[in-house]
Amino acid sequence: MNAELPPVIAIDGPSGSGKGTVASRAAQALGWNLLDSGALYRILAHVAQQAGVSADEPARLEELARGLRVAFMRTPTGAEQILLDDRDVTAVVRSEQSGKRASELAVIPQVRQGLVGVQRGFRRAPGLVADGRDMGTVIFSDAGLKIFLTASVEERAQRRYKQLKQKGLNATLPTLFSDLIARDERDRNRSVSPLKPAPDAVVLDTTGMPVEAVVDQVLDRARRRYGEAAAGRRQGG
Ligand code: C5P
Repeated sequence: MNAELPPVIAIDGPSGSGKGTVASRAAQALGWNLLDSGALYRILAHVAQQAGVSADEPARLEELARGLRVAFMRTPTGAEQILLDDRDVTAVVRSEQSGKRASELAVIPQVRQGLVGVQRGFRRAPGLVADGRDMGTVIFSDAGLKIFLTASVEERAQRRYKQLKQKGLNATLPTLFSDLIARDERDRNRSVSPLKPAPDAVVLDTTGMPVEAVVDQVLDRARRRYGEAAAGRRQGG
């Protein structure tokens, strides 16, 4: 780890592995910053669509990617909020549609390149919890703690289904299941930054595990690795 840079916990894994929830809760408990890198790909998909830029215009996509001004916030009631240029884009970002488009853009090297600096910009004191597909392998390859979460595809589809239903969004289990498999395929097999655990990542299979137990494991490891810096806010506030 580079001693001059704030500490990073990199949490990677496939869709529905729980990494978003785990990262968000861990960041809150530690009082560290949060980077939901998937949201950046989703926002880029949205911005590109609005600007009429298609997947076969990599240079324009890269420019759009470099210009993204995104912040991850919490409302006073504790709900997650994603701001793009101070505009609330949480609902747009969370739709299955933007997830699908995001994974189509994510195979384009210029898109990934354009987002490197944006992502590294989130590394600020006292620390960062970053979740995605290549946090531990590429973006924060010097992270002091790397976690790779997995779960069976059935369980991941179920989790996704529950999440979307809770948000009042439309979804059917068979469609989610086949979309998940397609997205996994694309993420694992792309030539740039494919989804895989870093050699020094701790791999946790979360099938059948309640999310609280996963968060506790991550926090335990964070405290062992980072000591005082990860003492955090014990109340989770
Ligand atoms: O994690 P989430 O489902 O929000 O990510 C949406 C898509 O963005 C993923 O399917 C993946 O293709 C892409 N992505 C990526 N690298 C990341 C984060 C997300 O390629 N670090």
